[in-house]
Amino acid sequence: MSVLPRESQESIDRTRAVSQAPELSEAPMMAMGKSARELKVGNVTLNGRVFLAPMAGYTDTAFRRLARRYGAAMVITEMVSSRALMNAKGQDKSAELMEFTEPERPVGVQLFGGDPGIMGEAAAKVAEEIKPDVIDINFGCPVGKILKCDAGAAILKEPQRAGWIVKSMVEATGGKIPITVKTRAGYDAMDNAVFEVLEAVQEAGASALAIHARTRNQMFEGKANWEVIKNLKQKAKIPIIGNGDVKSAEDAYRLFNETGCDGIMIGRGSMGAPWIFEEINHYLETGKPMGVPSLRFKIGIALEQLKCSIEVKGPRMGLLEMRKHLTHYLKGFEGAREMRQNLLTSDDTEWVVKTLTDIYQSMPEDNSISVSV
Ligand SMILES: Cc1cc2nc3c(=O)[nH]c(=O)nc-3n(C[C@H](O)[C@H](O)[C@H](O)COP(=O)(O)O)c2cc1C
Repeated sequence: MSVLPRESQESIDRTRAVSQAPELSEAPMMAMGKSARELKVGNVTLNGRVFLAPMAGYTDTAFRRLARRYGAAMVITEMVSSRALMNAKGQDKSAELMEFTEPERPVGVQLFGGDPGIMGEAAAKVAEEIKPDVIDINFGCPVGKILKCDAGAAILKEPQRAGWIVKSMVEATGGKIPITVKTRAGYDAMDNAVFEVLEAVQEAGASALAIHARTRNQMFEGKANWEVIKNLKQKAKIPIIGNGDVKSAEDAYRLFNETGCDGIMIGRGSMGAPWIFEEINHYLETGKPMGVPSLRFKIGIALEQLKCSIEVKGPRMGLLEMRKHLTHYLKGFEGAREMRQNLLTSDDTEWVVKTLTDIYQSMPEDNSISVSV
């Protein structure tokens, strides 16, 4: 007998069915003259154009592994302070944040900092010791304590410095590893600053620019303004990766189609749904929406991520850090509100694993993409 009332499954299916993309008469990427399965970033050739956006507190190794399995072209670590990295002794928080496994490749390590010299030293250290495929620079973080170190979105107040930072990093790594940047549409307003950042970084040797189409002042509120992505693409000599408000395969198609961007990046739309990359890739290649993932499939993936999180971080932290993901995975559990609440508040790791396993096993098998739990 299923632990969950039938309505839960139905309500999820309904929500997803409504958000299903319309079938298109031709393969969208081909119609746009692009290969859905190839994008060059410096000397790295990616097998796709849809990236997992870096998200501090979310895109840890457990989540990145799933995103890659379901077709993210590249994943990026949570941001790491260049200053902390250079002051670090032995295994510390920075090292933990940068740790990745081989199946996550291609993977980027994201650094933040405002000092070109320190960013150069940090890039050399990362390239030498961590050996990611790409080093990305965070020029978009809107948080006060990051801006105070002249890092993150502060660069939009002094676009020239973005060029100095990239130049220092390219030189320090001998041009052997692509240096990419991720920034925002502006600081207070959508003005010329982001175009100056583009010019400065491409001149200095950056291999791609990802643009979150909101200003610093907008933080994560309001609609992303894709117009700025289109305008950057028209001026750029390097690949432009558009970002902001992509939550479905149809959004992904529209972002490519409306802006001509070379790649896209998904942040919040992947929370509790790392399979979104497969849905998008399939749609971009065929113009046909994929089937709706079942609740059983979702629980299976949540369980798999939880087990990986526990393995990497231990039973306590593994569960605590997984909670915010579980909130997303368990959306639609309305018919089992009490059970959902218990799963999201329990400190008993063994109980949470057992309960999710029982729920998973009690559900009828389906034809979803296979899960290994
Ligand atoms: C919880 C959270 C953490 C984030 N952390 C980072 C980060 O470490 N580095 C970064 O460049 N952007 C970070 N971002 C911004 C995202 O990468 C992305 O640009 C933003 O969420 C917009 O994309 P979306 O609409 O697809 O979510 C974060 C966003 C969220 C919601």
